[in-house]
Amino acid sequence: MSERELDPEEIVEEDWRTRAEKIVVGGASTGSKRFATLYGEAHEEMPSHYVRASGCRIWTADGRELIDCIMALGAVALGYAEGAVTAAVVQAAERGNVAGLSHVLEVEVAERLSDVIPCAERVRFLKSGAEGVAAAVRIARAHTRRAKVIGCGYFGWLDWYTDGPGTVKSAHEDYTAVPFDDITALESAAAETGDDLAAIVIEPVIERLPSTAWIESARGIADERGAVLIFDEMKTGFRLRTGGFQEYSGITPDIAVFGKALANGYPLSAIVGREAVMRAANDAWISSTLAGETIALAAAAAVLDWHEKAEVCEGLWAAGEEMMQGVQRAISASGIGGVSVRGIAPMWLLDFDDDDQRTRFSELAVDAGVLFKRGAYNYASLAHDESDVGEIESAASAAFVALREELADG
Ligand SMILES: Cc1ncc(COP(=O)(O)O)c(C=O)c1O
Repeated sequence: MSERELDPEEIVEEDWRTRAEKIVVGGASTGSKRFATLYGEAHEEMPSHYVRASGCRIWTADGRELIDCIMALGAVALGYAEGAVTAAVVQAAERGNVAGLSHVLEVEVAERLSDVIPCAERVRFLKSGAEGVAAAVRIARAHTRRAKVIGCGYFGWLDWYTDGPGTVKSAHEDYTAVPFDDITALESAAAETGDDLAAIVIEPVIERLPSTAWIESARGIADERGAVLIFDEMKTGFRLRTGGFQEYSGITPDIAVFGKALANGYPLSAIVGREAVMRAANDAWISSTLAGETIALAAAAAVLDWHEKAEVCEGLWAAGEEMMQGVQRAISASGIGGVSVRGIAPMWLLDFDDDDQRTRFSELAVDAGVLFKRGAYNYASLAHDESDVGEIESAASAAFVALREELADG
């Protein structure tokens, strides 16, 4: 970090939010990092940009040091700028991260994923989660030569899944969304597809673990109809277990997509699956210029080393449990109502009955030194140690007490 970046006199002068909103359409390229999404519309003085991140801490462009519970939307589980990952990335950059041939790391990381992910007989790499799930769906359609897809979850911004301004209806018309953990809805959506069901795509954890019966019924329907079962393990991979929800549950999909914590913040998604299904990737066109660049692959190799040497996922469950309990104590001690802590330990949420209170809390918590995610997951990392968790509880306490007092004052 240069002195220039840390000079508080200078950085406080800069209004990064205004500058961003003038030049970056919407203010930020990631939807969840837009100011209104972070804090709500009415709040002017909150930090919008950071200049440095390390462990679970970020230093903001307006001169604050915050403990981050967002952890790059779950993309970072070992901590920001983790030493082994950074060293691997620097070495990969120094050795030339791309060339006219594939690098050996592409093969090595694929082999290592196959060792730790139950369904991973074959592997392909891309960059983003949205791309990865779109590729999995294309492989399923190529394998089955069918069109219809039933899905439950968030799968990114691409046209097969999203509709709305800028998309054409035809791209989305073969997709049916079903509610989480609802066997009847899944069965009737499958019945409606007739003999044209290509895939069932599931994000296996949405704010809670699903019932085994629902996952088994998805597996059963896919098997009966010759369709492909896809798990989107973007959030669950390298977090619930190294091998994701499929390792946790013992139920194996045909294809799965990993990303986020896989490369601890570097852009990598892996589409992995059974050989008999993945082979269809040879018929479908799935390719990207930088898919095999080595910076992200080297980061993934360092993450795999971590998972080999340490109980990373146990650590994430333990840290998340401490975070949830600390925040729950803060809620109870403050006497405030209408707030609860939900989710599972490695990815948990604060739920407010009242939207304005949710927004005000996020502001008060930042003033007390902690960045919580407003309306979505907070993620545990290995960098959230006991003293950080203590600070999270204190900050949550201060924010809940201040909020309760404001409510009492009307
Ligand atoms: C379950 C799931 N799938 C897909 C995506 C899309 O990934 P990306 O934002 O890397 O395109 C996300 C992103 O949050 C996700 O949570």
